[in-house]
Amino acid sequence: MSDGVVNQKRNLPLLATRERCAGKTFIVTGANVGLGFEAAKHLAVLGAARVVLGVRTPSKGEIAKADIDAAAGTAGSGVVSVWPLDLESFDSVRAFVRRADQELERIDAVVENAAVALAEREMAEGHVKPVTVNVLSTLLMAVLLVPVMRAKAEKVADGVAPRITLVTSRAGFDDDAHAGWEKVKEDPIKGMDAEDMVPVKTYPLSKVTETIAVRHLAREVLPVEKGGVIINLVCPGLCITQLGRNAPDAFAQRLRKMHDMYGRTAEDGSRTLLHGAMAGVESHGKLLHSCQDGEPDVPDWVNELGAQKNTWEVIARELEAVEPGCVSKML
Ligand SMILES: NC(=O)c1ccc[n+]([C@@H]2O[C@H](COP(=O)([O-])OP(=O)(O)OC[C@H]3O[C@@H](n4cnc5c(N)ncnc54)[C@H](OP(=O)(O)O)[C@@H]3O)[C@@H](O)[C@H]2O)c1
Repeated sequence: MSDGVVNQKRNLPLLATRERCAGKTFIVTGANVGLGFEAAKHLAVLGAARVVLGVRTPSKGEIAKADIDAAAGTAGSGVVSVWPLDLESFDSVRAFVRRADQELERIDAVVENAAVALAEREMAEGHVKPVTVNVLSTLLMAVLLVPVMRAKAEKVADGVAPRITLVTSRAGFDDDAHAGWEKVKEDPIKGMDAEDMVPVKTYPLSKVTETIAVRHLAREVLPVEKGGVIINLVCPGLCITQLGRNAPDAFAQRLRKMHDMYGRTAEDGSRTLLHGAMAGVESHGKLLHSCQDGEPDVPDWVNELGAQKNTWEVIARELEAVEPGCVSKML
């Protein structure tokens, strides 16, 4: 077990404030439960003008919306909306971004929080689901959103760059994930899709792949002065959520014990997502955790520039095959 988990702080600061949220529009994916739900609830309570819950099962989203409306006093106000978003489908990602472009006047921050961890090999869009959901759809959404958010920010012209916060995990930094990474790093998508890949290993690998690619995307391809959007990565730490719902029994038991000893509540963990959504230009391309700069905890192998470039290029090729021209339109 990593020191990061054993020593992780609890009772984190709430860096989202009424002043920072009032009048603003936020999108949170995977907002029906867990960290996404708690982050969306904070945003509504703090007076956001709009909070869009991107969820794959609208009925679950409506239950979450009712809870949020009750906490924030926003029932019937149109502040909180439930929009369908299934990251197992590239069409669903496209439709979601199109709708955001058409219906939202401004987009101040998008928290790409939705993710899946599976114990069985299951496929979507020709890839194992953690690749499709946690890497390809998550990055497709970011790439499609950048020009939309930039154009809206130019119209709003309040001088504040909007943010895309990608929720990742330091589980991808542990020794086992590192050993797995060394085997797949030439083409992590092909590597994770391989039939002999142990399915439970795909979650940490998908998260480290996302982290490594986004560091190159943000720092080298799309600096804020070019992209107009702050892109950062957040690890929420070990939090008591339903993420382990598909875990094999032995792992689920171990996870429950770790939750009891070290876990942050989902509400506490959601504060790290809000930190990402509020952080300034200094957070661009960086890992944040525990509501602070997480860069000192990024291992050297994750910082290897050649691997970052290669990983982004592998993913960019996949995204271009899905949506031709999407990468150049983002630039
Ligand atoms: N909990 C932790 O200890 C921990 C640690 C490090 C990182 N994280 C990261 O934190 C984020 C939030 O996880 P969580 O802990 O809050 O887990 P969670 O309770 O399982 O929530 C995950 C959310 O993602 C949604 N989702 C899954 N597959 C989806 C799909 N195909 N399309 C759209 N939405 C989908 C889920 O929807 P359904 O309810 O419909 O399945 C749910 O809303 C994830 O990115 C996770 O990797 C969590």
